[in-house]
Amino acid sequence: MIPYGRQSISKADIAEVLRVLKSPWLTQGPKVREFEEALAKETGARYAVVVANGTAALHLICLALGVEGRDVITSPITFLATANMVVLSGGKIRFADVDEATVNLDPEKVRRAITARTAGIMPVHLAGLPCDMPAFQKLARRKKLFVVEDACHALGASYKAGATWHRVGSCAHSDACVFSFHPVKTITTGEGGAITTNRKDLYEKLLLLRNHGMVKDPLRLKNKDLAPQGSTKAGGDTLWYYEMQALGFNYRMTDIQAALGLSQLKRLKAMVVRRRQIVSIYNKAFAACAQVCLPLEKKGFRSAWHLYILRLRLKQLGKGRTEIFRRLRSRGIGVQIHYIPVHLQPYYRAQGFRRGDFPAAEKYYEAAISIPVFPSMRNSEITAVIRTVKKVLAYAAL
Ligand SMILES: Cc1ncc(COP(=O)(O)O)c(C=O)c1O
Repeated sequence: MIPYGRQSISKADIAEVLRVLKSPWLTQGPKVREFEEALAKETGARYAVVVANGTAALHLICLALGVEGRDVITSPITFLATANMVVLSGGKIRFADVDEATVNLDPEKVRRAITARTAGIMPVHLAGLPCDMPAFQKLARRKKLFVVEDACHALGASYKAGATWHRVGSCAHSDACVFSFHPVKTITTGEGGAITTNRKDLYEKLLLLRNHGMVKDPLRLKNKDLAPQGSTKAGGDTLWYYEMQALGFNYRMTDIQAALGLSQLKRLKAMVVRRRQIVSIYNKAFAACAQVCLPLEKKGFRSAWHLYILRLRLKQLGKGRTEIFRRLRSRGIGVQIHYIPVHLQPYYRAQGFRRGDFPAAEKYYEAAISIPVFPSMRNSEITAVIRTVKKVLAYAAL
């Protein structure tokens, strides 16, 4: 089976991980800080905080921004975690429909969904294609809302605003940006995630919440009078005293993971270039295929191509999507569906959402099918995917 996505691990990655395994620090050592600095440099953001996974990153940023009792607007075409972390942080999820062409959150539909209860907007860069960030920033400024990018698919992507290209993660048009380093993503740490931001207040809250709400730096203690005499010293950490300033978690990333991430980050550009090569081969191969609609990358947007999602023209096909999916799977093509609209999940239906609420998202879902794209794909695998997809589509054609 050729999977829809797969990690690419080099000898250098393995060597870096081994080095940490032989070191005194498996966690809470120097690699985490190094990875954070490298991520900040790569994206252009002032700060980066790495955490256990992308879901934890979403959870912490929702808590840091304070969504309790307020609404957050996001796309129904995303992974469950985007919406779930708003709810787990005490917020209420609102969806707005997607743009039919890009399948990203539509700024105009978001504008119409904003109410006095809205705290923020969470655009999702689906498949690695950046959303229209300047439009969201404009909306947010006018209505005093926050913007958090769910960029779990989009490390390595960029977009143009005016004459300037911006890297996703630079937070040029948002308060924060969230990444995932799951093995199918553009770089991996096994499990892992990160938040980038230019806001010092958010950065400090995220550090606090990631580690039990605990502070050891004597300069940051808020109740110095509670510290036993001699338990703190100026500069560096306290001797042993710690103060809990908030209710937090253990959402830390290990040094083993950070070492892998650091090593992977060095190949990010090359891996995105390879993804782009595969996409251009696919685009040429399927251009004349009347039964499918190809994924879009508008001028001024550079996708990281985490996913390559074909949309079936169901009216021109005699067979349904499930039949096509099954045939492709049985012929060794690891297709997948990204995603079932979140509002149609039983949990969200129970909150009042129903079929028909977001027609563009629902129409997209009926026809979408992701085919394999990952940097270590061999040319023979690309050829096999193209041949098999064409054969199955020809079979399914009316
Ligand atoms: C859009 C999106 N948001 C959030 C997540 C959650 O990331 P993680 O799996 O690292 O927790 C994912 C992961 O699949 C995702 O695709």
